[in-house]
Amino acid sequence: VPKLLRSLAKSVVPSAWVDGARAVHRDRRLSRALRVLRDAGELSPEGLVELHTAWGNSGFSCDVRFLGEVQRRLGTATGTVLECGTGATTILAGVLAERHGFRVVSLEQDPAWATHVRHTLDREHLARVTVVEAPLRLIGDHAWYALDRAQLPDDVSLVICDGPFVAREWGESVHSAWRYGVVPQLLDGREAEMLLDDFDDPRAPGILDRWSRDFGATWSTVDDENGAFAVVSLRSPPHGLQ
Ligand SMILES: C[S@@+](CC[C@H](N)C(=O)[O-])C[C@H]1O[C@@H](n2cnc3c(N)ncnc32)[C@H](O)[C@@H]1O
Repeated sequence: VPKLLRSLAKSVVPSAWVDGARAVHRDRRLSRALRVLRDAGELSPEGLVELHTAWGNSGFSCDVRFLGEVQRRLGTATGTVLECGTGATTILAGVLAERHGFRVVSLEQDPAWATHVRHTLDREHLARVTVVEAPLRLIGDHAWYALDRAQLPDDVSLVICDGPFVAREWGESVHSAWRYGVVPQLLDGREAEMLLDDFDDPRAPGILDRWSRDFGATWSTVDDENGAFAVVSLRSPPHGLQ
């Protein structure tokens, strides 16, 4: 009978209504998870799973392990946090920014996705995140957000790098250069810690080597069945050598 009822319901209820109802349910679930974060100042592992699930977009979101590391680092963040690629991490950062008083600049290449993320930030009254919409452009051998370094405040010391999405359509060498651009375009000469997601991507080791060769970056990695990311350290050159 339930099957019969379901197919009957499907034939009389417009699919737009069903999608709308699902979206409302997801939004409520996300609001509940964020309320716990607001009240407690951090989410338990179970709370992080709930936030991750409520946000949805599972094919593109970071894993819960990375979300937990982002939460841990944001707990002591000061100044401006730079984020490359927006999503669940942006919303998490937005709540913690309200609590701890830092600001977040989040770069997004996809205008429709930027609108969706901004809409969620507005609905949750998260005013400390600025989503900067910037399409990718070709710079030398890599694709990077079309953004002037001067648009970024000087006090960036934590970077969450989970973007951009560099498609194969850019060609083999640009695709392999992946997220290389974040250091030469925005971080060279700054002292910063960067969480680089997707260390299991075959392009990651080559990029880390280039950052080390070109900018003296050092890194450590987390790579197990729960997730894979790198923590990259950049030190500013000694005074007078800049
Ligand atoms: C890997 S996502 C992750 C963002 C965020 N750190 C998170 O965990 O949710 C990074 C980029 O993928 C793109 N993206 C996100 N969702 C997408 C979707 N459903 N379809 C296509 N691209 C998407 C967006 O441009 C976004 O900046």
